[in-house]
Amino acid sequence: MSDPRPQPLPENFAVPLGRVVNRLGVFGHKVRWYPTVASTNDIAAAWAERGAGEGCTVVANSQSAGRGRQGRVWTSPAGAGLYVSTVVRPTGPVIPLLTIAAGVALAEGIQTATGLVSDLKWPNDVFINGRKVAGVLAEATSSQTGICVVLGFGINVSAAVYPREIADLATSLEREAGVSVARGNVLAECLCGLAQRYQQLTDGQRGEVLDAWRGRAVAMTGRCVQWSEVGGIREGTAEGIDDSGALVVRTDAGPARVTAGEVRWL
Ligand code: BTN
Repeated sequence: MSDPRPQPLPENFAVPLGRVVNRLGVFGHKVRWYPTVASTNDIAAAWAERGAGEGCTVVANSQSAGRGRQGRVWTSPAGAGLYVSTVVRPTGPVIPLLTIAAGVALAEGIQTATGLVSDLKWPNDVFINGRKVAGVLAEATSSQTGICVVLGFGINVSAAVYPREIADLATSLEREAGVSVARGNVLAECLCGLAQRYQQLTDGQRGEVLDAWRGRAVAMTGRCVQWSEVGGIREGTAEGIDDSGALVVRTDAGPARVTAGEVRWL
């Protein structure tokens, strides 16, 4: 099936993006808007396959098959959130820290746009007052156009009806702020955050990104955590992230590094 056709970017997005154009770097200059898609990550991946360059960004008003990490569904009701995917074409050492940088960028963008302070939980979940408000799904592809990572992020902006299993675990910016929040401002600031943090990675300033992440992950440190490995389920106490972005966990058998998969916070 062919991709849906993009529509003109609505004013409530175009105006805030125009205001921050000097801070956007490559992000947000080429933005394609869709009233609805299955998943913005798929649209961005198809665009990348046709040669989309760094910073090409897809935004949708709703998703019919939005997905999260570990095959979960990302509920994406119309107008209630930001559903965004952007193309990056990183080289070698930048790749493992991309999602760490994206998590920082979202937390910072949300704070600049709304004043709300959020925490990060490994690998890149954004929490406010103990409930999840945003997440990042990074998907890599390699084709004739080279290595490409689609960085997809979802932010709950307005209160919406979420499936029962996540209703108590999720929150939205409006619920936390107690006032209405303009999606365009949040998008603009998150893309500026991404521009800044991605630039730091490519300039070799990984320490800046890691320190910013650690500064927002205080609530995670010292928490009990469970994860699965080939040998079975393991458990320990989260100590933070190392310089490669892996989660470091203290266990009875010594320190362990978790680099992928799902962790369960106890
Ligand atoms: C997670 O926390 O599990 C990641 C959620 C990522 C959701 C976003 S919404 C835009 C993009 N398109 C998708 O299908 N998923 C990501």
